[in-house]
Amino acid sequence: MRKLVIYYSLEGNTKLLSQTIAQNLDADILEIKPKYEVKRKGFMKYLWCGKSVFMKEKPELERIEINIDEYDLLIIGTPVWAGTFTPALRTFFDKYNIKNKKIFLFCTHNGGPGKTLENMKSELDMNNIVDTKDFVNVSKNVEINKNIAEKWVEEVISKINV
Ligand SMILES: Cc1cc2nc3c(=O)[nH]c(=O)nc-3n(C[C@H](O)[C@H](O)[C@H](O)COP(=O)(O)O)c2cc1C
Repeated sequence: MRKLVIYYSLEGNTKLLSQTIAQNLDADILEIKPKYEVKRKGFMKYLWCGKSVFMKEKPELERIEINIDEYDLLIIGTPVWAGTFTPALRTFFDKYNIKNKKIFLFCTHNGGPGKTLENMKSELDMNNIVDTKDFVNVSKNVEINKNIAEKWVEEVISKINV
């Protein structure tokens, strides 16, 4: 069974856990990158990114070279922005009509996951969502979260006999 970790990350938390999971599962990894991303700081970051969520924007993405059809299991990760998944993933879900995959979903946040995982599930309703997980305050508790991520994928994988 071919496995692919797909993620978007602005500040590195989701990236770190995606890398941990990919390494642990011996999976390929795909970073979703908006074509034009201005990295803003402080209040402007929340304002700009928050606006993008509320407007349900779909930013243009950098070209994806990987053929997602070749994978059976996808592990998809996002930061939580304003209680939901990030605009880059909105574009991704819209552009790649993902169907008939086994999927693990995860998000990283600072205590308010909102409806991120439910909203991602709705976008992926033609698939088998095997399990979901949220990770809190990753940058403050790096080792603990890496550990939880490793255990999570190991446990779920063993249940689905991959
Ligand atoms: C625009 C913006 C909105 C955010 N909204 C939330 C939120 O609603 N709830 C929450 O717990 N954390 C929120 N956060 C914090 C991030 O979800 C958290 O730091 C996450 O781990 C960042 O992932 P990254 O490092 O992969 O970008 C927000 C961060 C940003 C930049």
